[in-house]
Amino acid sequence: MTVPDFVAAKSQGKRLSVVTAYDALWGGIADAADVDAILVGDSLGMVVQGKSTTLPVTLDQMIYHGEMVMRAVQRSLVIVDLPFMSYHVSPQQAVKSSGRVIKETGADCVKLEGGVNQARTIATIVAADIPVMAHVGMRPQAVRALGRMSKIQRDEAALLADAKAAEDAGAFAIVLELIAAPVAAKITRELSIPTIGIGSGEGCDGQVLVGPDMLGLTTFHAKYVKKFAELREIAIQAIADYSKAVRGGQFPGPEHSHK
Ligand code: KIV
Repeated sequence: MTVPDFVAAKSQGKRLSVVTAYDALWGGIADAADVDAILVGDSLGMVVQGKSTTLPVTLDQMIYHGEMVMRAVQRSLVIVDLPFMSYHVSPQQAVKSSGRVIKETGADCVKLEGGVNQARTIATIVAADIPVMAHVGMRPQAVRALGRMSKIQRDEAALLADAKAAEDAGAFAIVLELIAAPVAAKITRELSIPTIGIGSGEGCDGQVLVGPDMLGLTTFHAKYVKKFAELREIAIQAIADYSKAVRGGQFPGPEHSHK
């Protein structure tokens, strides 16, 4: 999957599946599952690092995780998030950060949060031949300004303006997070680039979910997250069984030992 293939999917009427992954283990699994794209999201700050927001994640950490994912991925498009404050200072800072991501990880493109407020930055990165995915609606990096995460964005005109600004600036696709389904569907109809929804209904061109959430590995619950498996329960049971077997002397058996 390349960026042009991803963009073409919209006119071909193909729905796009995107999932987050943060290392070679899960990147390889997502790639084997044949997803269209893998997002190395800065959600890793919460999911992997256990922090309460994505704000502390650094560019070096994103590059570290992006590189791990890239080692395992053969065919899916790989998108790496630009973390908070790695592109806010100036468009020049944004090009430098994006250039590091592309050169040091080998990923296909970067993602940043913003629409109207980041249009100049998106255009500057795109002018350096680095494809940019935008992200509007609920922007986790704006948590301090929004007051809390998971806040549904309701101003239809502002959302449409953000999405159009990102498209006009040259973004090749756009994440729509926590936008009422009819508004996300309208944005999707009005844009020529693919929209990738999360908690924004079925009218988007594709969907993205946080991998560990949809696999039931995390304890995060939200209406929009369908758990396609309950891997946390399975893992807890397996580790408890192992622990019991060690304590009870049933493991290791002769079949697990060198003669
Ligand atoms: O960081 C992330 O995982 C994301 C998705 C939730 C879209 O931005």
